[in-house]
Amino acid sequence: MGMNVGILCVCVVLFIAMEAMGVPTAAPTDQISENKNVLKKKRSVSRSRSRPIDHTFKLPIAQTSSSEGTSFANTVIDLGELHVMQASTFSKVWGAYESGPDDQGASVYEPTGLRYGYSMLGSYSQPNNKPLFGYVLAAKDISGSTTNGTLKPPVDYTLVSNTASVMVDQDSPLYIWLPIAPDGYHAVGHVVTTTQDKPSPDKVMCVRADLTEQCESSTWIWGSNDLNFYDVRPINRGSKAPGVRVGTFVAQNGGNTNPPSISCLKNLNSISQIMPNQTQIETLLHSYSPFLYLHPDEEYLPSSVNWFFSNGALLYKKGEESNPVPIEQNGTNLPQDPNNDGAYWLDLPVDDANKERVKQGNLQSAESYVHVKPMYGGTFTDIAMWVFYPFNGPAKAKIKFINVKLGKVGEHVGDWEHVTLRVSNLDGQLWHVYFSQHNGGSWVDASQLEFQMDNSSFDFPTQRPVVYASRHGHASYPHGGLHLLGKNGVGARDDTDKGSNVMDMGKYVLVSAEYLESEVKEPAWLNFFREWGPHVDYSLDDELKNVEKLLPGKLKDVFEKIIMGLPKELLGEEGPTGPKEKGNWNGDEV
Ligand SMILES: *[C@@H]1O[C@H](CO)[C@@H](O)[C@H](O)[C@H]1NC(C)=O
Ligand SMILES: *[C@@H]1O[C@H](CO)[C@@H](O)[C@H](O)[C@H]1NC(C)=O
Ligand SMILES: *[C@@H]1O[C@H](CO)[C@@H](O)[C@H](O)[C@H]1NC(C)=O
Ligand SMILES: *[C@@H]1O[C@H](CO)[C@@H](O)[C@H](O)[C@H]1NC(C)=O
Repeated sequence: MGMNVGILCVCVVLFIAMEAMGVPTAAPTDQISENKNVLKKKRSVSRSRSRPIDHTFKLPIAQTSSSEGTSFANTVIDLGELHVMQASTFSKVWGAYESGPDDQGASVYEPTGLRYGYSMLGSYSQPNNKPLFGYVLAAKDISGSTTNGTLKPPVDYTLVSNTASVMVDQDSPLYIWLPIAPDGYHAVGHVVTTTQDKPSPDKVMCVRADLTEQCESSTWIWGSNDLNFYDVRPINRGSKAPGVRVGTFVAQNGGNTNPPSISCLKNLNSISQIMPNQTQIETLLHSYSPFLYLHPDEEYLPSSVNWFFSNGALLYKKGEESNPVPIEQNGTNLPQDPNNDGAYWLDLPVDDANKERVKQGNLQSAESYVHVKPMYGGTFTDIAMWVFYPFNGPAKAKIKFINVKLGKVGEHVGDWEHVTLRVSNLDGQLWHVYFSQHNGGSWVDASQLEFQMDNSSFDFPTQRPVVYASRHGHASYPHGGLHLLGKNGVGARDDTDKGSNVMDMGKYVLVSAEYLESEVKEPAWLNFFREWGPHVDYSLDDELKNVEKLLPGKLKDVFEKIIMGLPKELLGEEGPTGPKEKGNWNGDEV
């Protein structure tokens, strides 16, 4: 950016200088061509600038999978007469150098070097603001049927769109084709060319309809008002959903419209067979468990659940509030019926000294509670890692340059937070991490994570991801700094930074993996469906009025708007339930 402005400035200065010296300046037509030259120069400068996508990301982690004899991380998955593999070696077809996330453009690739017998299902596209890191599935028909196989070439192509009229700097126009599938088959990806000539029919394969599912377009990759590229994923996602993400992208004329023109795949075989066994889970967690950094000023640290129970946490029953009972090791005396009706709840010890002590948690005892489940039809494993904090501290807001404490807003007993590792069952690698933030969160590519050397295992040197927990609220983030929940410099503050308190999430207990059936015994506390803290004992209105008193008049309105837009969890209006009550227990994150 600075460079482009620089070039323009030099030209303007030169022009003025020439006029001042009495040099005859160019006629208007010449000026236009001069401007064109400047534009060309600006473009070639912008194009030659290096971008994150010029590098291919590789996990800074040694290969971990010990897959012999099992189906996990065994390169090929059988979806039902259809073998799929991950192709992540690409050849670039096209690049645009503007628009897209961070205005850095996007690139489109074709998979190369496919194993013998495998066919391309579609092209790959990614924004340029990240290192090259992705895959598309390639497939092989193993049905043995000549008339009703699982793959068939398209009968023709339709031109979805081309980028010739999109006014951005690009290598060439890009032509995006949708394969027209034979009857009973669906296209699962696009073919792209840089000329108007139709691709040949053997370029790509369509998939028999019973092996496909409806997709939805999700993350924006690139585009303008008229044409946009999106990532696609199965519309139904969860631990039982058979839909498989292919890794292809969809091009849409205009904005995001669903359903997209291409389908996802579907796994017709048993999902649990391709999941990691307990030894493999252990290896994955050894490699990928994050280091969780608490804020330097954090007063409310995590603890183990058993520490909380054995240090005075109490079980209350409605109608018998004056007679709470201590909680047994592993929560064996907690009600086990799957109801969340307010009949019971947990709370801190009653006496002030113990209450304050337990609120502060106990880092030494802290451990992560691991739930392993299939995702995307068993082509991925989601490892949800839950952390328990006895207490969630009050929130803070930032209103332009003013920082205000929000009284007791946000405070609650019993705070469950999590991050989820998404590992491919084809290659055993970590592809994405989900960071829970209040009642939402965000997925981050492994290429965007911070990694830290793990010094604890000299025989098996490895780097592991870093996670930051925000002060008081314990929302998780991939990077340190201020994360503002709001906009235009006004909102609730999530402050994260590296303090000396670090939790090694590799100290874990496997609490649930339904696909392993009786191998994993769930602790009793996991089946406590009521709330881990009492209802808030303050009035939100009163707390906010107290804050508003301190604000200059014109900021009061802004403040109110922002507060009302905050997540309910942060406002303390939603009860602190345990992991099994959250939507992601069986479903996808967010
Ligand atoms: C998991 O699979 C690996 C590879 O086949 C095997 O060595 C290991 O014993 C298995 N572990 C369990 C707990 O079944
Ligand atoms: C092809 O196989 C699919 C899946 O078994 C089946 O639903 C379909 O009816 C078959 N089509 C023909 C023409 O046999
Ligand atoms: C691990 O070792 C490296 C190199 O000796 C050092 O820089 C780093 O601070 C150590 N990390 C921890 C968490 O001790
Ligand atoms: C109960 O707690 C103890 C101590 O933390 C632990 O060793 C044991 O495995 C737990 N039992 C169950 C069923 O979770």
